[in-house]
Amino acid sequence: MEQAYFITGTDTNVGKTWATVVLMRYFKGQGKSVIGLKPVASGCIWEEGRLVNADALLLQDNATVKLDYGLINPYAFERPVSPHIAGKGNPVELKVIGNIFNSVKEYAQIILVEGAGGWYSPLNQHQDNSGLASVLNLPVILVVAIKLGCINHAKLTFQAISKDCVVCAGWIAVCTEPQLECLDDIVQTIRDSFDIPLLGILPYLNIPDFDGLAENISFT
Ligand SMILES: Nc1ncnc2c1ncn2[C@@H]1O[C@H](COP(=O)(O)OP(=O)(O)OP(=O)(O)O)[C@@H](O)[C@H]1O
Ligand SMILES: [Mg+2]
Repeated sequence: MEQAYFITGTDTNVGKTWATVVLMRYFKGQGKSVIGLKPVASGCIWEEGRLVNADALLLQDNATVKLDYGLINPYAFERPVSPHIAGKGNPVELKVIGNIFNSVKEYAQIILVEGAGGWYSPLNQHQDNSGLASVLNLPVILVVAIKLGCINHAKLTFQAISKDCVVCAGWIAVCTEPQLECLDDIVQTIRDSFDIPLLGILPYLNIPDFDGLAENISFT
């Protein structure tokens, strides 16, 4: 492993998976091997005798190495509710995720770990996504869905990440809504608020074109 990032968001449903796949395509375009993990997922369905999650399957498909599903998504909960509730019978253990992360490090140059929900979304009764990023010791990439209210969410999340002494490597703006007024102004306001690089703006697309979107990513 050369680089790894924890992908968090300003909320659930803000474009973390899209951004993660776009980053995977970006790194693949640079000739790197890449793995995407979604260690904790709620809202899974039964397929061939096991619970699987759409995000995790997409990350599995986009990796350069075909990893066993259980390594990508060790905690797959059927109920579409917060993991600390869905996982009452099988609570998330950050140490287990840490061990899996360490075991897959040798398989790729780039490892991306998608969180579940937002920065302080709980994973078990006493730990949340911020704790997972700390246990994995990863810099964070924050995904912001550009919509009304997102400036507040972005500022709060940036502040929380820095308060937790976790490095924020950058942020990605994702347009999850087809028509948004003042998009450029909103993005500029967030840029002006924090000295953290904007890695890319992903425009709204009716049909996903992850390679096309990867052209919008820049780590310089
Ligand atoms: N650039 C885009 N253009 C159009 N739709 C998008 C775009 N990015 C994301 N979406 C849509 O927005 C929704 C949320 O995206 P995504 O699943 O990536 O969010 P998430 O933060 O990973 O959600 P979760 O918290 O469930 O993991 C999805 O319906 C997705 O199809
Ligand atoms: Mg997702």
